[in-house]
Amino acid sequence: MKNETTFSADEIAPLHSIEQWEDDVLERYPEPGEPAKTKEEFRNYDNPGRDTVREFYRLNHKYQTYDFVIEKEKDFLQFNRKELKWWDAMEFLNTLVDDSDPDIDLDQLQHLLQTAEAIRADGHPDWFVLTGFIHDMGKVLCLFGEPQWAVVGDTFPVGCKHSDKIVYPEFFKDNPDSYDERYNTKYGIYEHGCGLRNVHMSWGHDEYLYQMLKDYMPEPALYMIRYHSFYSQHRENSYDHLLDDHDREMFDWVRKFNPYDLYSKSPKPPVVSELRPYYEDLIAKYLPSTIKL
Ligand SMILES: [Fe+2]
Ligand SMILES: [Fe+2]
Repeated sequence: MKNETTFSADEIAPLHSIEQWEDDVLERYPEPGEPAKTKEEFRNYDNPGRDTVREFYRLNHKYQTYDFVIEKEKDFLQFNRKELKWWDAMEFLNTLVDDSDPDIDLDQLQHLLQTAEAIRADGHPDWFVLTGFIHDMGKVLCLFGEPQWAVVGDTFPVGCKHSDKIVYPEFFKDNPDSYDERYNTKYGIYEHGCGLRNVHMSWGHDEYLYQMLKDYMPEPALYMIRYHSFYSQHRENSYDHLLDDHDREMFDWVRKFNPYDLYSKSPKPPVVSELRPYYEDLIAKYLPSTIKL
């Protein structure tokens, strides 16, 4: 499997396309009731990150094939790389600077705490709060040298036709699965209503953490973790034909979770030392003392 670590010149996207992506994100998923940011606020031509976001999606759509996913599952689901206490794992994650949040520069722990605190402030059950606190833990994949497009970004089913509701669908023309008749029909290798448990998703931090925690967290929490980046379903409903009744019920929770992930970001960093005891207690209540990565 090709592990893309360098970008050729013609793989670097022109700047105007990055604006289009920012505009698209705003138009697709603005916070209800909030005035949309002006275009000028998002047109920061001095930000070199803007070019790489589109390039990031191009690479994601090109290389996330069915075979690639199976290979990553075989490798990473052995969880044989590291074993850490939970808080040490959080601090390990925090050495990563996330590529997917270009607008506000918060570290990973701050994003997790803001997500969890927003859930807590709304009076949700403690396992929901804990879900907010750990939902991006799978991003440690980046720290094992994985390409960013195999850790973050919208996720989507592999083994069947790519929905045109996935961000930048045109980039799937570079994905070999688009030309493979086993995989390029509406159902591909799946059947109507087969249930998402039988569907392989593009590889990333969602599936990795789900597999780590599947014996420990309540079912709605597992759905939130496993499918929080599956925007083409939880926002666009474009894979309804693969869902079963249980998926449909559980996706209410995925949709409940998503606004906390997207809209809880605030430039004011939470005070980690004040919050740590509460979250250490929550971890102890639901999870084993160490996490195997
Ligand atoms: Fe995430
Ligand atoms: Fe997140």
